[in-house]
Amino acid sequence: MSIEGIEEVVYGVEDLAKAEQFWTDWGLRLAASSATELDFRTLNGCAVRVRAAADPSLPPAIEAGSTVREVVWCVDSPTDLDALARHAGITRRDTSEGSECVATDPNGLAIRFRVSTKKAVDVAGSPSNNWGSPQRINQPSRIYERAEPIEIGHVVFFTDKLQACEDFYVALGFVVSDRYPGRAIFLRASPTGGHHDLFLLQIPGGKPGLNHVAFSVRDIHEVFGGGLHISRCGWETQLGPGRHPISSAYFWYVKTPCGGLAEYNADEDMLTADWHPREFTPSNEAFAEWAIEGGLDGNTRRQLAAGGDAIVAGKFGTERRN
Ligand SMILES: [Fe+2]
Repeated sequence: MSIEGIEEVVYGVEDLAKAEQFWTDWGLRLAASSATELDFRTLNGCAVRVRAAADPSLPPAIEAGSTVREVVWCVDSPTDLDALARHAGITRRDTSEGSECVATDPNGLAIRFRVSTKKAVDVAGSPSNNWGSPQRINQPSRIYERAEPIEIGHVVFFTDKLQACEDFYVALGFVVSDRYPGRAIFLRASPTGGHHDLFLLQIPGGKPGLNHVAFSVRDIHEVFGGGLHISRCGWETQLGPGRHPISSAYFWYVKTPCGGLAEYNADEDMLTADWHPREFTPSNEAFAEWAIEGGLDGNTRRQLAAGGDAIVAGKFGTERRN
């Protein structure tokens, strides 16, 4: 059985207009919209669907307010759906959009499994000229004016049933990549793939809820370009840019009007069945090697000074550059 990753997240929100503005600024493409639903897409076809929180067609919420109401995972073939349907609590059904499996995880979150409709995309990050293995010859590294997320990389939820969630997802084929014992687990959807597709956090006294949805971009430069753009649009950074020691990924977390955070993410570790899960003790250092709280606003003196023939300011004084 092969679960390939995330196909779609469905939000229930209190302000559809704000949600539309946010995901547009974030870099998603609006594929369809109506008075009751927005359908945004990443470059490879992952969907971010947004409906009103009060929409009766949405699955129950795991927390009050705007939040993710459902995560849709994709599989390789209908045979995978057959295998999933043999698990307790998983129901196979046919819809106008095709066959799927539905369930509710131990955290109370609605999940679905569908055969993937994601498409291959011909995009790549800039090669790096790391010492000893230069990969970019006579070729400047790209600068991004804004991000164009390639796919939904992972989702992160708070839970008060961490062990039950681990048992549930591992039984379906997910693999533990790393863990904070008793506090959190990083799960990838299949043995070979990115470091995590699902991260679950159990905070003492905590309740179920959304932490964030991460969007994969090409490279660290697009993390910066996207973060600076979304900041210039007026959205508030929670933390970033920064780098996770666990997964090695670069990140930039932004507060969304849809609940939780959205993350630009790039350069995560790629794992295989040969990977042995590690155990960590929660700490700031384990979470981030380095990070900027509140972000870079894209309009600071440094950012303005970096532009074209603008003023060059700094320890050398101020001068015009032509
Ligand atoms: Fe993340």
